[in-house]
Amino acid sequence: MRSLINILDLSIEEIDALIATANDIIANPERYREACKYKKLATLFFEPSTRTRLSFEAAMLELGGSVLGFSEANSSSAAKGESVADTAKTVSCYADIIAMRHPKEGAPLIAAQNATIPVINAGDGSHNHPTQTLADLLTIRREKGRLCDLNIGFCGDLKFGRTVHSLIAAMSRYEGIQVTLISPEELKLPSYVKKDILRKKDIPYTQTTSLEHAMPSLDILYMTRVQRERFFNEEDYLRLKDSYILDPAKLRGAKSDLCIMHPLPRVNEISVAIDDDPRACYFKQVLNGKFIRMALILMLLEEAKR
Ligand code: CP
Repeated sequence: MRSLINILDLSIEEIDALIATANDIIANPERYREACKYKKLATLFFEPSTRTRLSFEAAMLELGGSVLGFSEANSSSAAKGESVADTAKTVSCYADIIAMRHPKEGAPLIAAQNATIPVINAGDGSHNHPTQTLADLLTIRREKGRLCDLNIGFCGDLKFGRTVHSLIAAMSRYEGIQVTLISPEELKLPSYVKKDILRKKDIPYTQTTSLEHAMPSLDILYMTRVQRERFFNEEDYLRLKDSYILDPAKLRGAKSDLCIMHPLPRVNEISVAIDDDPRACYFKQVLNGKFIRMALILMLLEEAKR
């Protein structure tokens, strides 16, 4: 049974096909209104979410299907000690496809190994968030017209930010990609991502603590929130949380066609004064997330028939 756990589970050709389907859904939504009639999506969210859970649910509803699920671990039998494996076997009896978010790295993989229906990783700990990456790729393609020949700056919490790890993995497969890593020392990109992706794929990258210094060369600026929930102590979080705040003054040296992205939620990393700047793309990412999840649900349910 085909699931999506890591963005690298999809080939570049499959990502191209998903982007093409998402663009067709945007252009011709009426064609898809009954595409998933009588199908059910289960959203199993063991961690908080606004965008991912609601966009999955909106996606399935707009495809004519139905949704069921839970939005916190305490309202499921996980609170009584039920395993992820048993939860996946159980939900397979009620639904056609699962979207699961879990604080433990690898939990959606365990679910996929035990479910009899497709499982989509909707974020596991600080590990992966492949459907956010699909939303990011669709946004980059629509805004920049290409997925190659780009300098992407990742700024903020590069240690715990799973969206950063997934997007770096995805972008490393395209030609002409350069990566600029902007973070405090304590929140640098983990060594395993540098070794297993950037160095292995020969992707040129630079590391800096200065957003202003990096800004002029960037085609894309991917801001991230400092991930409070992954810190072991509050003191460190409070010291680091406002390391980078993007405001109009910091954009002075930026390219006129810079694409400013953020997976959201934002806390304080992007001033609301940026929201009306034509370079701000983060709410476009939110909307694109629904369309690419529609395309993904269609693809996985189609494959499940075979
Ligand atoms: N981007 C994202 O994963 O947002 P949520 O945590 O609100 O789902």
